Amino acid sequence: MARGRRLFRLKHVALDAEAAAKYLLDLPAEGLRRDPAAYPPLSSAALFGNDRPLEVDIGTGTGEYVVELARQDGESNYLGIEVSRRLAAYAAALAARHGLENLRILRANFSLLRPLLPAGAWQRASLHFPDPVHKRKDEKRHIFNPAFLDALAHVLAPGGELSIASDKHDFFLGMLALAEQDTRFVKAHPQAYLEGLQSPHKSRFQQFWERKGVTPLQVVLRKHSD
Ligand SMILES: C[S@@+](CC[C@H](N)C(=O)[O-])C[C@H]1O[C@@H](n2cnc3c(N)ncnc32)[C@H](O)[C@@H]1O
Repeated sequence: MARGRRLFRLKHVALDAEAAAKYLLDLPAEGLRRDPAAYPPLSSAALFGNDRPLEVDIGTGTGEYVVELARQDGESNYLGIEVSRRLAAYAAALAARHGLENLRILRANFSLLRPLLPAGAWQRASLHFPDPVHKRKDEKRHIFNPAFLDALAHVLAPGGELSIASDKHDFFLGMLALAEQDTRFVKAHPQAYLEGLQSPHKSRFQQFWERKGVTPLQVVLRKHSD
């Protein structure tokens, strides 16, 4: 069984129609390819009707991390993006259980969202524990690549930050090498990378790997503010 399947063995959570309408936005791949203009831009104004800073967790999984961030910080808006229907529904049900007004869950493949990303609309983004690439066929599913960095360089506000973390050290160092070539970003810390992931809440994957004695590695990239 793949590690994701094992880790995401979930208790059933009910997502009623009212909660789904409020918290879950489903953007099917076919629609995104055919007519992306039919969907809202991923900005605070379009998703929340205000201009608060927007923080986005890409590949949010079951959503505990982004739900907790939204609970702790009512001054910002939060968006969790997740390609799996089952996991996105779970995350939306958690958001509904807490009655959060500043969080939405987007069920979509991030790689297809480029037309919906307004310039400078996000203050912060995270890509934590992305699925590692094991085989050549996995490369198509690998979310972190030059197109990902192009998308983030476009959508982050000047001075906005992107946090990347992984429990797979070789995989992390590959992502780091690609990020270090990109002159649109600088590191937000003097170290080449950080050992251990500093965050206000530990995600399901962070807790799992730390219980196994694995220290995640992290880099925080800051978009140039010129
Ligand atoms: C290993 S899990 C990590 C989940 C979460 N970030 C955590 O720390 O617990 C990676 C997640 O990324 C999602 N994912 C993979 N490719 C994606 C894509 N192209 N767009 C959106 N989500 C994606 C997977 O479905 C999975 O839930």
